[in-house]
Amino acid sequence: MNSSTVLQGKELSKTFRFGNENIRVLQSINLSLPARSSLSIRGESGCGKTTLLNILARIENADTGELSWEDRIMRCDRRASRNEVAHRANFLGVVYQAYYLVPELDVLENVTLSARISGGMNQSMIERAHSLLRQMGVEGKARQIPGKLSGGERQRVAIARALLNRPKVLLADEPTGNLDERTGGEVMDLLLNTCSQEGASLILVTHNLAFARATDQQTILTEGKLNEV
Ligand SMILES: Nc1ncnc2c1ncn2[C@@H]1O[C@H](COP(=O)(O)OP(=O)(O)OP(=O)(O)O)[C@@H](O)[C@H]1O
Ligand SMILES: [Mg+2]
Repeated sequence: MNSSTVLQGKELSKTFRFGNENIRVLQSINLSLPARSSLSIRGESGCGKTTLLNILARIENADTGELSWEDRIMRCDRRASRNEVAHRANFLGVVYQAYYLVPELDVLENVTLSARISGGMNQSMIERAHSLLRQMGVEGKARQIPGKLSGGERQRVAIARALLNRPKVLLADEPTGNLDERTGGEVMDLLLNTCSQEGASLILVTHNLAFARATDQQTILTEGKLNEV
């Protein structure tokens, strides 16, 4: 693997068994993500985009294939080890379409939750959280609960949360899927700019062609194959 490659997937395949039917979702996928770069994945609903992101995050197994997170090489046909799970918390962040903020916690508590759980909470984490909220334009909402935020504001908070640990890679699964066009555009600009400022590489799943075109590498997932466009 080239030293500037931050994430690489080799020969990743996945078939789901549904009753008697086999759904071949991913067929020998190869992908390579350079440091400080962005890659978009488009493709029809149900083609396997979320499945691929889950495999890249080691949330889900593949049937075959190998994955590298920088110099750490992992087989994907087995569950993530405790060691890998622990490493994941620092190596990558994830942003989902549906935000998944904890409703009982305020914005600052949501952004710093992983640090609280891992025992890494300290004043510099709080300062980092404020700084990310400022970058995302929602610093004034630090003490608000998610239920009182707009969708766009919730997603800005979710992006700040995903970047707290300075991940090398951010995976974003249709992050603007629940937002109107203008708000989605604003959130996407913030996402791309903040990843770039933070030096994080981005894998972006989106149905929006304009957003896809804003990334360095553009791919489409069709019939189990990932093709560059
Ligand atoms: N755990 C599972 N068991 C069986 N089939 C599954 C499972 N997870 C996903 N699938 C199937 O795999 C295919 C790919 O699903 P996936 O969620 O990855 O698609 P997607 O490209 O993310 O779709 P969307 O754009 O709608 O989010 C679908 O046919 C889905 O029904
Ligand atoms: Mg999906």
